[in-house]
Amino acid sequence: MAITRQACVALDDADALAALRDRFILPDNVIYLDGNSLGALPRHVPARMRDVVGTEWGIGLIRSWNDAGWIYAARRTAAKIAPLIGAGADEVTVADSTSVNLFKLLVAAMRLNSGRDVLLTQTGNFPTDTYIAQGVADLLGAEFRRVDPDVGSVLTALGPRVAVLAMSHVDYRTGRIHPMRRITAAAHAAGALMLWDLSHSAGALELELDEAGVDLAVGCGYKYLNGGPGAPAFAFVARRHLDRARHPLTGWFGHAEPFAFADDYAPAQGIDRVQCGTPAMLSLLALESALEIFDGVSLTALRAKSMALGNLFIGIADATLEGLGVAVASPREASARGSQVSLSHANGYAIIQALIANGIIGDFRAPDILRFGLAPLYVRFVDVFDTVETIGRILRTGEWNQPKFLSRKTVT
Ligand SMILES: Cc1ncc(COP(=O)(O)O)c(C=O)c1O
Repeated sequence: MAITRQACVALDDADALAALRDRFILPDNVIYLDGNSLGALPRHVPARMRDVVGTEWGIGLIRSWNDAGWIYAARRTAAKIAPLIGAGADEVTVADSTSVNLFKLLVAAMRLNSGRDVLLTQTGNFPTDTYIAQGVADLLGAEFRRVDPDVGSVLTALGPRVAVLAMSHVDYRTGRIHPMRRITAAAHAAGALMLWDLSHSAGALELELDEAGVDLAVGCGYKYLNGGPGAPAFAFVARRHLDRARHPLTGWFGHAEPFAFADDYAPAQGIDRVQCGTPAMLSLLALESALEIFDGVSLTALRAKSMALGNLFIGIADATLEGLGVAVASPREASARGSQVSLSHANGYAIIQALIANGIIGDFRAPDILRFGLAPLYVRFVDVFDTVETIGRILRTGEWNQPKFLSRKTVT
């Protein structure tokens, strides 16, 4: 039986998480399905930022490092992220970008496993992950290798020379989840360290880094964590490695005593050593504030809603988009799918542009992926219905086939 809009409204009415949506500022007449790229703005953050800029910066000036606690903002923020990823607060820090943290932690991993000389990553990884891994291998004179991310191929590729295996937990194109425990255990059995990029997981999926025995991880602050454009990223180093983990960006914020102004570098005890220089304080404080959204919210409930949203999306797509050249590019099994549904279509870019003109914001990833992020904190079931229905209409009418939708913008 066809799923009706009314049935989706009823799902929203019954949704125990529905009220969380009001805690975000979302523009009227927009369906926002790009929280996997840039999370929405939590309603309380602008007031906090007005205070940060007007009072802490404007009046407190340099005193705010101590008086407003700026100096501990990274630690406070990390302590809020730690429970979201199943880690201890002493294993997480917030600094720099995901790319920079990858660089730091990949070098640290190669040094931790210094008898080995292969840096192994996956095909189809997010470009920055591949590029940084290539840069690290080049810098250290190590061998860069790539393997298809299915468990069988990964198991085959692990070997006595592999120092670290670096993968994304959720594939940014398809949303496929790579089994963290299995792959981490396989890496360990082969004597390698395991680094996960959690950019498309943190804040949307339940994660248990400590229980899974993960060695290192990085992730974005501006996607499901809603920290704002260019928000600082997080980095995780398992407690057991902290003493020996040495990264190459030995800036003063990672020093044991930054304000001793010593002549020589000595790493801080613990996770603070992963810091480098002065944090981008406005962005860091915005992220810290945004994370309050998660206070008291069950990740299990969030994940359940995200899976239900995805199942609904795929169910309506199967029922209504047949014969229109669209294929579901995400796993159909909810447990294997992150918080997004991707479709593929040869004219994906133009279709996304036409959707945006209709007030529905998803994004396009070359060569043919239409990506719809289903951030469970604020996406409604009825949004999913309206989106799939509009995709069908745009395809049936050929509305997408106009020069204004076909010419590519710089950011897709
Ligand atoms: C898996 C993954 N890693 C990293 C990034 C971005 O890294 P950065 O914030 O350094 O640009 C993204 C951005 O979409 C991503 O999807």
